[in-house]
Amino acid sequence: MSDDVTIRLLGISGSPRKKSTDYIVNEALRYAQEKYNAEVEYFSSRGKNMKFCIHCDYCVRKKQGCIHKDDLVELYDKMLWADAWIIGTPVYQGTLSGQTKTIMDRCRAVVARDPKAFMNKVGAAAAVGGDRMGGQEPAIQNILNFYVISEMIPVAGGSFGSNLGGTFWSKDKGAEGAADDSEGIRSLHRTVNKLMKTATMMKKIK
Ligand SMILES: Cc1cc2nc3c(=O)[nH]c(=O)nc-3n(C[C@H](O)[C@H](O)[C@H](O)COP(=O)(O)O)c2cc1C
Repeated sequence: MSDDVTIRLLGISGSPRKKSTDYIVNEALRYAQEKYNAEVEYFSSRGKNMKFCIHCDYCVRKKQGCIHKDDLVELYDKMLWADAWIIGTPVYQGTLSGQTKTIMDRCRAVVARDPKAFMNKVGAAAAVGGDRMGGQEPAIQNILNFYVISEMIPVAGGSFGSNLGGTFWSKDKGAEGAADDSEGIRSLHRTVNKLMKTATMMKKIK
């Protein structure tokens, strides 16, 4: 796509492993780089020190960010840098992983400091389950809700295959399982197409 704006895309994996979620988020970044010349950054939950939000309200009272100075400080910077995000989560108990939820909860601190911090950034989601219908859509829906609450613009790839975002069936076979899911790859690429086109439009308006 020959456009005069370069989109900064952040991929986030909410998996503690370097397996299927890591694969699908990196596939989204690879595709966006190759097809749209996107600048990309990646954050994986793997091995990270990420504390739960403890609802101390330090962020609301002080407006200086989160009381926790852990590995999410690095992610906050990447979130602010990016025009568009794609969050990938493994499906745990029919919904998103605890790591993905912790990341979303901890964003309260960023928005408490600056309510417009994420406004009009564009967000997409992808989920990978061990089962064919294991809760991918509830997982994605939670991420899309988070984008709405953050005043971002949630997108997905559209009807007939990419309804709410990238949906994968790994068969519990890690990266290889996700890579073998051709319908999942198609749903992801269509989601990235929409993400990049919407982010380009938004950046041009700005
Ligand atoms: C605690 C836990 C709960 C899980 N619950 C589900 C589930 O409800 N539905 C499902 O399809 N897969 C479930 N799985 C399987 C993972 O979603 C699947 O293996 C996924 O590909 C893991 O992502 P990863 O390779 O990035 O770790 C669960 C796995 C774990 C560890």
